[in-house]
Amino acid sequence: MEIKKYGLPVLIFGLGLGLSFFSCQHEPFTIDGDITPIDTTGNNNPTDTTGNNPTDTMATGTPCDPDVVYFELEVLPILRSNCAKSGCHDENSAQKGVILTSYESVMATGEITPFNLSRSDLYEVITENDPDKRMPQAPNPPLSSSQVSLVAEWILQGAKNESCDPGAGGCDTTAVSYVSDIRPILESNCLGCHQGPNPVGGFVLEAYDNVVAKINEGRFYGALAWETGFVPMPYGAAEPLPDCDLLMIRAWINAGAPEN
Ligand code: HEC
Repeated sequence: MEIKKYGLPVLIFGLGLGLSFFSCQHEPFTIDGDITPIDTTGNNNPTDTTGNNPTDTMATGTPCDPDVVYFELEVLPILRSNCAKSGCHDENSAQKGVILTSYESVMATGEITPFNLSRSDLYEVITENDPDKRMPQAPNPPLSSSQVSLVAEWILQGAKNESCDPGAGGCDTTAVSYVSDIRPILESNCLGCHQGPNPVGGFVLEAYDNVVAKINEGRFYGALAWETGFVPMPYGAAEPLPDCDLLMIRAWINAGAPEN
């Protein structure tokens, strides 16, 4: 991978300090900036009060579109918690000149070619099979398949920095729960086919583990969002699930698909 040297960065990104559990080099390290690992809620944005205040009906931001991957909301938290660590790709360490702490630094140093995965080094290294070349480096675990597909989708959509307000449009994607939000969506829309001894489609989505297995195969959200390369779900439906259902499902997946 050819990445230009950028020299030592002078910017210190010092919003907060946190400890991380994985090491990139043999040294203790901290994460610069916001450590909320996979926050899709927009709560870090101090100007966004819409998602938190149920009495606030003045949601002024752009509602999120479930077909769009939002960099700051979805991709940056992955890069920050897995790559922008001290000793790795934060402002101070900048291994190989790569800094992954903001949209600007990612675009300037991550060797990303919008719309083109095979010419995007950032994508190449996170999907590299050779453990010596793969990022994040061992002993850190590789990114999950849903994280990889989010990054891929973002590049294929042009690697833009679109933003949206998760609280706008009356869709609350903060603290999505499997039991009270996700499971009911699946019950009404999916289990008719995907349950029982002879499920339509050949697999069930009855238990939490079944759902997580499909997510880990990288076959779940793409089918729901009717992305190319997937069979659109619900099978035979005239249109995808309502936007808010999709946004909740994606926020839940981005949060690590917890069994909550
Ligand atoms: C009317 C029956 C039916 C319903 C309702 C249905 N599915 Fe499916 N599903 C299928 C069939 C049939 C397949 C296999 C399609 C194929 O391989 O051609 C499938 C395949 C899938 C796949 C794999 C798609 C891929 O491209 O790999 C996923 C994921 C999935 N379904 C999830 C869901 C979810 C989530 C819902 C609810 C939102 C749902 N399905 C609703 C019948 C259904």
